[in-house]
Amino acid sequence: NEIYLQGLGGQVPPFTTDVTGLEESARERLGPGPFWYVAGGAGSGATVRANREAFDRVRIVPRMLRDASERHLGVTVLGTELPAPVLLAPVGVQSILHPDGELASARAAAELGVPIVLSTASSYSIEEVAEASGDGPRWFQLYWPNDPDVCASILDRARKAGFTTLVVTLDTWTLAWRPRDLDQSYLPFLRAVGTAIPFSDPAFRAGLEKAPDEDLPMAILRWVQLFTGKDKSWDMLPFLREHWDGPVVLKGIQHIDDARKAVESGVDGIVVSNHGGRQVDGAVGSLDVLPEIVAAVGEQVDVLFDSGIRTGADIVKALALGAKAVLVGRPFAYGLAHGGQVGVRHVLRSLLADFDLTMGLSGHRSPAELGPDALR
Ligand code: FNR
Repeated sequence: NEIYLQGLGGQVPPFTTDVTGLEESARERLGPGPFWYVAGGAGSGATVRANREAFDRVRIVPRMLRDASERHLGVTVLGTELPAPVLLAPVGVQSILHPDGELASARAAAELGVPIVLSTASSYSIEEVAEASGDGPRWFQLYWPNDPDVCASILDRARKAGFTTLVVTLDTWTLAWRPRDLDQSYLPFLRAVGTAIPFSDPAFRAGLEKAPDEDLPMAILRWVQLFTGKDKSWDMLPFLREHWDGPVVLKGIQHIDDARKAVESGVDGIVVSNHGGRQVDGAVGSLDVLPEIVAAVGEQVDVLFDSGIRTGADIVKALALGAKAVLVGRPFAYGLAHGGQVGVRHVLRSLLADFDLTMGLSGHRSPAELGPDALR
């Protein structure tokens, strides 16, 4: 309605309402290093493509005369009500895209009541982002450090700063072969990383011989060593439970057996995700594995989904296949690149409006009414 009314006054929206167009203009705005940091995938990009192809193979079959004029987008996830089945995915070092970085995303999400999932690799500290998020819902994403003291310290700070839910990313215990980042020697990343969370973390600083501002290269090296090179195992999960008293969600599940193990290990939820195709080149499209995982564990834990969501129709499809909610990555990162808080808000509102209309026009009044019979 806002867009129609502004149109009557001769005004057009500040940025395109089409995510593909937004990606194209982000390319011009950002330059190759930062742009490919967002757009790039692992290896040949086969999994980035597979994520989209999986959505293209599934189609909505609209229903008529079901009075979907009144609609509700709200869902309950992990016992908490969300205004819509959408969260901002954890995206690291957002200051590469806009100087306000995670502060802008947190403010935009809070305006709409959409949860942020703050990355361990944030450009702003946990406490700064919490302040920007105000009363907004906030979850914390953990890259599991190799040092248990640093891990405990980060979790403690996140809890105290009002982050309610822990999302543990399992698929990035070391960085994949990412040619587009390697060709830039990770320069945009390294330039921005100087303020990343562990640099402000007391347990991390205690392990350094010199303060980060006295020896930045060494601090960065230690930081990278802290988060890469060492995989964890299922029997280490109790450590996280000991240090986190809220819901725990495992992100990066693609195999049905891992989904079952997640349930056995007592976590509260999983995110079916392949990190937006950024980790295993040639991996299966994330939507392709969603139905079998929902069939296996959907009764026991909340199944969330990400990797490839670009439109309202994509959200309809993922929910119809059993996801309780979806995380959105690149689209909001492009919004951030366009206009900070205003850009993220624009993308979120566009996506939610598109979802609302597509759900309604296909004959559904709420996410609860979406099931596999809505699709072919
Ligand atoms: C990510 N992703 C990510 N995931 C995570 O757990 N911690 C992180 O710090 C990051 N950082 C990050 C940076 C950038 C630039 C992107 C694009 C992605 C992965 C992210 O949470 C999510 O899984 C994917 O982005 C989902 O795919 P789409 O929506 O981008 O297709």
